[in-house]
This record gives sequence, C-alpha cells and structure tokens, in this order.
Amino acid sequence: MMEHEMRKIPNTFGLDVEAAVFLEYSSVEELEKLIAAGYITSPYLHIGGGSNLLFTGDYKGVILHSRIGGIEVIAEDEEKVALRVGAGVVWDDFVAYCVEHGWYGTENLSLIPGEVGASAVQNIGAYGVEVKDLISFVETMNIEGVKHVYRMDECGYSYRNSIFKRPEMKQVFVTYVGFTLSKKEHYMLDYGTIRQELEKYPGVDLKILRQVIISIRESKLPDPKLLGNAGSFFMNPVVSREVFEVLRKQYPRMPFYEMGTDRIKIPAGWMIDQCGWKGKSLGPAAVHDKQALVLVNRGGATGADIVALSDAVRASVREKFGIDIHPEVNFI
Ligand code: EPU
Repeated sequence: MMEHEMRKIPNTFGLDVEAAVFLEYSSVEELEKLIAAGYITSPYLHIGGGSNLLFTGDYKGVILHSRIGGIEVIAEDEEKVALRVGAGVVWDDFVAYCVEHGWYGTENLSLIPGEVGASAVQNIGAYGVEVKDLISFVETMNIEGVKHVYRMDECGYSYRNSIFKRPEMKQVFVTYVGFTLSKKEHYMLDYGTIRQELEKYPGVDLKILRQVIISIRESKLPDPKLLGNAGSFFMNPVVSREVFEVLRKQYPRMPFYEMGTDRIKIPAGWMIDQCGWKGKSLGPAAVHDKQALVLVNRGGATGADIVALSDAVRASVREKFGIDIHPEVNFI
C-alpha cells in the first residue's frame, strides 16, 4: 500500500496536475484495508492509466489507482481459454501475452493505452472489435468494502459505455476482469486498411496482425510519450437516417457506418477535418495533423486550453453540419 501526499496525477495528456492524496494498492486485501482505515474520503476518483481523462485543474481529493496484477488461466478446453486478469495490468501487455500464447480475440485492440480495469469500464474498441466481445465477468469492490461480480450481460455495454460510467457507480472499483478467448484461428480483417496493410506480409497470424494494427495506429495516433493526447477526443455521433440523408445530399463523399436500420454513425474526425481544423492550434492545444479526432498538447497546455479547443471544434461542427459532437474523454 502506498500513499503519496500531493502527488502528480499520471495522465497521457501530459498535464501538470496534482492530487491532494494519491493512493495505490496491489491486492484486493490492500484495498479493503484502505477502506477500513478510512483513507478514502470524499471526494475520490479511481483512475486507470489516465489515458482517457482531462484534468481541468488539480484534484482536491483522493485519487486511487490499482496495481493489482496477474493473468491467470481459470478454465480451458480445446477451443477456449478463460482468464482472470488484474485491473492494474497494462492493457497492451495483456494483448501481447495473449498473442504470445496463441489466444485469439484481443489482437485488434493492440496498443490501446490504459489498463485492464479501465478497458472494462470504457468498453474500449478498435478495428471492428470491442472489449465487451471478450469479457465474461467483472469483479468489483465498492466503497463499503462489498465485493460483487457482474456477468458481462449485467454490465450494460454499448459503444464506449457501461454501467460503470454512471455517476452512482463511481463508488464501485474494478478489481479483476474475466475474459474468454478462442484457441481456434480466426481474425477480424474487414475494417479500414487492415487488408491493404496485410499485403506487405506473406500471410496472416496473430503476431502479424498485431504488428499490422500497431503500424496502422502508429501512423495516425500520436505516441503520448512524445505528444500528450488521450486518443479519440470525441465520440462518433449517431444520427437518424433522415438526418443522414439530408447531409449525404450535401456531402456525397461523407464516410458512414450503418448501425441497424435507422441509426447511422458519422466519423467525427471526418467532420472536424472538413471544418479545416486538422493540424490547427489554439494556443498550446492542437488538432492532430494525422487524425482530426485527436486533440494534442503541444507542450505546456493546461486542461483549460484543451477545453477551449474542444469547445471551438464543437462549435464549428455544429455550425457546418448541425450535429453536436461529444467528448469521449472524461472531464475531471
Ligand atoms: N477521417 C478523415 N479525417 C480525419 C480523420 C478521419 O477524413 O482527420 C475519416 C477517415 O478517412 C475514415 C473515417 O473518417 O473514413 C473514420 O476514421 P478512422 O477509421 O480513423 O476511425 P475513427 O472513427 O476516427 C474510431 C475509434 C478509434 C479506433 C478507430 C479504429 C472512436 C471515437 N474512435 O476512430 O478509437 O482506433 O475507430 O477502429 O470510436 C479511441 O477511442 O481512443 C480510439 C482511437
């Protein structure tokens, strides 16, 4: 158990922010002790890798961070493997482990920043896969020290969302996540430029696909160690067919994804790009020059600088397309 007074809060935006108290724990027992000893006073916030957070100032409360590790096989047969993984395991280390062991399912989610616990809260997704497709259960402990295991179908998963994002669930901390992965060879290749990129390789296997996903991501998304960012800053808006048809008349080349019969997802990145924001700065905050969905800290930005840019971008999209886009990143 570690306690650090006024400690810097880790965040991939590279914002210089501190917490009044920063607590880390490495096991469920340690978390139980922190709760019992009354260390976790309000306000408190449990973070993962800080890869989807925008701190608008110092946090005047307790920041909690899990360091629960371990990747354990809890059941297996010829076709599948069931795993129980600590919330503090770095997501991409988990993906690398699965690829190494020949387990299918996580590879399209290679290189997503963050940790296993947060992956289950945020329902991370990329290249045609969402983590909810792989999750079987989520183990938790609440602020009263009560343990509860949620089955996947109780987690209320939808696009970048789950019950764990509800305000009243802020008092529920993820301790372990259960995954079921396949041992049978199968790949998800029909998204974006995966097939095109694969042509550079002699064939496909888990390691090659992981490499392909990593190269596609690296070509578009900035490395937070070099340029502060939180991945996609906005969610892709979903509109009705009626709204979509009107827009399509005006913008025949607009990309879109059908989601059932009446719901159409429009890439926010494309709209922001069309508004001319790509590569543009507002003070020390900027819209990334290779992917307009990503806002970056060019150095020395504050949370307020990023919020100002976010507001300006949203206003442009509203004006040009009549659509409200909403941040995917959580403002604190
Ligand atoms: N586009 C542009 N200009 C841009 C950006 C995008 O014209 O500056 C166009 C692209 O050409 C493409 C379309 O918009 O036709 C969609 O772009 P892309 O395939 O890059 O994906 P996205 O919708 O921008 C989503 C996820 C990403 C995920 C990728 C790949 C969200 C909010 N974002 O981005 O997730 O990696 O698909 O699956 O759903 C994240 O959540 O942090 C994240 C990076």
